[in-house]
Amino acid sequence: MKIAIYPGTFDPVTYGHLDILERALKLFDKVVIAIAHNSSKNPLFTEKERLELLRLATKNYENVEVGSFGGLLVDYAKKRGATTIIRGLRAISDFEYEFQMALMNRALNESVETVFLMPKEELTYLNSTIIRNIAQLHGRVSQFVPPLVAKALEQKVRSLKRPALKPLARKKKK
Ligand code: COA
Repeated sequence: MKIAIYPGTFDPVTYGHLDILERALKLFDKVVIAIAHNSSKNPLFTEKERLELLRLATKNYENVEVGSFGGLLVDYAKKRGATTIIRGLRAISDFEYEFQMALMNRALNESVETVFLMPKEELTYLNSTIIRNIAQLHGRVSQFVPPLVAKALEQKVRSLKRPALKPLARKKKK
């Protein structure tokens, strides 16, 4: 069985990610989507929320599993029985970073190969930061993310803007 791992932060999952996933499913028997604990990012959604959003967004695909990991990607790939890492290449600007990561992962574990897939042209300019920014400015994101993600973004933005309740002041005893 050919298993691939598709890692990322997925904060949140977009149609761009799902496009890559669909392409990977044509090539592999199973794809494990893996949310990385990434200390260099400060995600809008908690890991639990991102896992849930990914599970719901991929529930109609067969042969997809969703998980999360800390530590090295190649170690998690091995743990899940995956021999291929899937990464999306959207533009030339992705190349340098992806090239470096692919070579480093190869140096860490030679038996894990990285495969790059290109999303549909109209999705190449997407990233999760842009989506989060649009949502925070109350723009429409429904053409870029599944409806459940758009709704979750709306709720998240609303919950962040809600002022914290002040604790009730105690009456002083006379
Ligand atoms: N459609 C839309 N957006 C896409 C996309 C697509 N097809 N492909 C990538 N992106 C976006 C992501 O949304 C993300 O956007 P953001 O930065 O605005 O939030 C950005 O492109 C790139 O992020 P992502 O694909 O999530 O990768 P990452 O750089 O956050 O994480 C890991 C990379 C998790 C794979 C890497 O850090 C890792 O392997 N970590 C584990 C530790 C390890 O093994 N380190 C050694 C590796 S060399």
